[in-house]
Amino acid sequence: MNGVLKVVDHNRPGGALLSLENLRTHLFTSKGVVKAVDGVSFEIKAHEIMGLVGESGSGKTMTGLSIMRLLPSPPARIVDGRILFNGEDLTKMPDDEIRKIRGSKISMVFQDPLTSLNPLIRVGKQVSEVIQIHSGLPSEPALGKAIEILEQVGIPEAGTVASQYPFELSGGMRQRVMIAMAVASRPELLIADEPTTNLDTTIQAQVLSLLRQIRDSQGTSILLITHNLGIVAWICDRVAVLYAGRLAEIGPTNAVLRNPSHPYTQALLRSVPRTDSERGKLETIPGEVPRLTRLPINDCHFHPRCPHAKSVCQSEQPDLIQIGKDHFASCFIYSKDWERTK
Ligand SMILES: Nc1ncnc2c1ncn2[C@@H]1O[C@H](COP(=O)(O)OP(=O)(O)OP(=O)(O)O)[C@@H](O)[C@H]1O
Ligand SMILES: [Mg+2]
Repeated sequence: MNGVLKVVDHNRPGGALLSLENLRTHLFTSKGVVKAVDGVSFEIKAHEIMGLVGESGSGKTMTGLSIMRLLPSPPARIVDGRILFNGEDLTKMPDDEIRKIRGSKISMVFQDPLTSLNPLIRVGKQVSEVIQIHSGLPSEPALGKAIEILEQVGIPEAGTVASQYPFELSGGMRQRVMIAMAVASRPELLIADEPTTNLDTTIQAQVLSLLRQIRDSQGTSILLITHNLGIVAWICDRVAVLYAGRLAEIGPTNAVLRNPSHPYTQALLRSVPRTDSERGKLETIPGEVPRLTRLPINDCHFHPRCPHAKSVCQSEQPDLIQIGKDHFASCFIYSKDWERTK
């Protein structure tokens, strides 16, 4: 730190634990450059649950993997921007330092639980290994602690489950084991990528309550990646909406859901099933998610699907414009001269 005292404000209520500043993560593929994350900025405050939503392919997982520095490389690379965690830029951090942070201060529940649980190791041992690495406890007390954590994440008969292999568990139980592993080191930030996909509604609700409980009891900040606005409404303090690698809208959950301001967020909300009988009959958003290798640089990527688009939307990229308290949308509609704009 060159002897300079760094003021870190993440313990101050409302202070940022993590700041993404103009993050660009691109994938260099044989078919062209996929701009999976293309200039995304937002903050996650201490003790906050932040939702990250968007259609499939919008860059949610790539954002999470960028923060973890676990991008598939090649083809992915962070080409621009900063990821400040407690004031330190993770994009510049040497591999050995990032390894110390990953799994201890920041951990992630991955989209596909089976890829991150080792099928050949009993679940208790997998959780206790995390504890051993981060606390230095010998294996026996670490296993005891692991069983305690498995209990805390709502696994009944945790002692028995600890001696089982992942394939012996139901999807909901495996998800809880994943969460147990992710929180075993008491991280400051937990990135949960679609943690309840493929679970039935009751188990979904239990897993989400569990995440909230972890935030409440340990003060963990959570980045919750989901395509489900119902989940956002239920658990997130704030939400960021991604469209084709860019931020369409961001704000407090209530504000964004009650007053969706970007035409894309409005369309997303119209496509949410309201009742059980509507489930599976999502109103689709007209048009297709654009191919990320063929996108112009200077446009609003949503314009081909937008009912309000004018020619400016094809030739300029909108900035985020303030809509209300802490609520921003990147849409020209909110610029002063929209009425006169062509
Ligand atoms: N290994 C890869 N090689 C090439 N392109 C990739 C690779 N991984 C992801 N992509 C592309 O990067 C873009 C963003 O992907 P990402 O996985 O972040 O989307 P997502 O929002 O998490 O989607 P989903 O909701 O389906 O999980 C997509 O266009 C995807 O096709
Ligand atoms: Mg994903």
